[in-house]
Amino acid sequence: MPPDEVYDQLAQLSKVKIIFKANSCIMLLFSYLALCAATAQAVVVPRAASYHGGTTKVVKTGKKPTGYEVEFHFQPNSTLHPQFVVLGGFFLYTNSREASNTKMKEILPWDWQPEDFSLRTVPDYFDTYGVQIPSKHGDYSKGFNMTYDSKSGDWVITLPFPSGTFNYAYYPDCWQGWGNSNCTVLTDPSNPPIERLKGDQKLSTIQVPFDGKFQVQNYDKYLPLEPASHRGTISFHTYPSPGSTYPSNGTHQVGVYLPREYGTVKNKEYPVLYLSHGGGGADSDWFSQGRAHNILDRLIDEGYLEPTVAITPNFYNLGFDTTDFPDQYSFLNAVRENFFEYLVPWVDEHYSVYTDRSHQAFGGLSLGGGLALTMLFNATDRWGEVYVMSNIAAPALGDPQYDNPLLNETKIWTGAGFYDKTLPFAKDFQDAMTYAGITGYKSEFYM
Ligand SMILES: *[C@@H]1O[C@H](CO)[C@@H](O)[C@H](O)[C@H]1NC(C)=O
Ligand SMILES: *[C@@H]1O[C@H](CO)[C@@H](O)[C@H](O)[C@H]1NC(C)=O
Ligand SMILES: *[C@@H]1O[C@H](CO)[C@@H](O)[C@H](O)[C@H]1NC(C)=O
Ligand SMILES: *[C@@H]1O[C@H](CO)[C@@H](O)[C@H](O)[C@H]1NC(C)=O
Ligand SMILES: *[C@@H]1O[C@H](CO)[C@@H](O)[C@H](O)[C@H]1NC(C)=O
Ligand SMILES: *[C@@H]1O[C@H](CO)[C@@H](O)[C@H](O)[C@H]1NC(C)=O
Repeated sequence: MPPDEVYDQLAQLSKVKIIFKANSCIMLLFSYLALCAATAQAVVVPRAASYHGGTTKVVKTGKKPTGYEVEFHFQPNSTLHPQFVVLGGFFLYTNSREASNTKMKEILPWDWQPEDFSLRTVPDYFDTYGVQIPSKHGDYSKGFNMTYDSKSGDWVITLPFPSGTFNYAYYPDCWQGWGNSNCTVLTDPSNPPIERLKGDQKLSTIQVPFDGKFQVQNYDKYLPLEPASHRGTISFHTYPSPGSTYPSNGTHQVGVYLPREYGTVKNKEYPVLYLSHGGGGADSDWFSQGRAHNILDRLIDEGYLEPTVAITPNFYNLGFDTTDFPDQYSFLNAVRENFFEYLVPWVDEHYSVYTDRSHQAFGGLSLGGGLALTMLFNATDRWGEVYVMSNIAAPALGDPQYDNPLLNETKIWTGAGFYDKTLPFAKDFQDAMTYAGITGYKSEFYM
């Protein structure tokens, strides 16, 4: 069936010039997902508005500090006359000597050194509820003022970036700093977000290649696979979901990754991996921020994963919300029931996928990690593998939910970023499983 919207990744990426060819890189699926989990951060910002133009270029400089620069050119539309424009949306750098999962020293792009990484922890100028408090360290959320070029009418800035995937957006007249919800957020028209459902993706994403002369952390595995003919496709669809209020009453949106081979082999069925976004997120997050399609392309191409269909659901606007429930798990269990009632049957009917437990996996990040736990404990017979990433608090050590014998027949992966504020929850979950004698789990914590 024709997708609502299909994007040719190459066409999209060709607008962001990457003047370098990616080295392919070999790692296992679990590690890829974990790195996505550690770097994907949900930022709650207002809906993006439209404007005219601009270009964004990733340029190999061969110079310090990183060997790469990104040139941002933003051209406001003719009705918008900002006094100043802030480039924001990404987090500053820190390093393992000056960061923990509660504090970090912020390092500016031009002071970047090998081994520094981009991080947003809960800095000491945010309290535990995420409320900003005055800081002696300055303010990560201020962003960078762009310069007005009166000849071209563009607002411009060039910053060094190390290897990796970074979100960004333009914030006209945003004196409060880009993290402030009152600022207007404009995504980059030369590099639009992947999904075009209005408002769901609030930031553009750039990918910067690795240069071993200046850097030590290589994230080239996020880059699009070469040659392009080896890539799968991603698309966004709507499915009937009574009660859903978005994108229209009674329908809900979902992202779908199909491996390159899909449709070429008659009657072949594929394993299916569901990947959930986190709090404040959307179905496109695993593709826009997590670059899951590039990672899956590479894993399949290199033979680490058999061709697999990936489904990215959306747990918001189903007709109920977190605020309708006394606690997060009540909400997540309602989401689970809703997905089994409407989403999973739609996937099974419209795609050539296996429907048995051993070929179905569920993964989720942050609040979606809570959803993965709900799937693990309350739908244990439905999933052969469950990936719990940067989860919210799991059932406590000794909770009878761990006495389920089927847990021993489930491949469970759990992990978090080493500087992730959810690290204690991930470790508690690990301890609770160890205490219960659950044998088949693996846990990893990533920088
Ligand atoms: C120009 O951009 C502003 C801010 O995004 C928006 O409100 C306005 O509708 C745009 N005007 C046109 C003509 O696109
Ligand atoms: C950008 O410029 C404006 C206007 O001069 C100023 O109010 C704001 O603090 C500056 N922001 C940053 C991040 O330097
Ligand atoms: C946004 O603006 C309103 C109205 O000026 C103000 O009351 C509110 O505190 C602002 N929000 C933030 C997060 O600054
Ligand atoms: C969806 O249904 C609600 C309640 O009946 C109604 O208020 C709303 O306008 C409808 N939205 C659309 C897009 O039809
Ligand atoms: C599983 O379901 C029970 C009963 O509804 C609920 O109390 C528990 O919180 C659920 N567990 C998870 C991890 O969602
Ligand atoms: C899982 O297997 C281990 C080792 O055989 C055993 O000690 C434990 O009780 C099992 N857990 C459950 C819930 O069956």
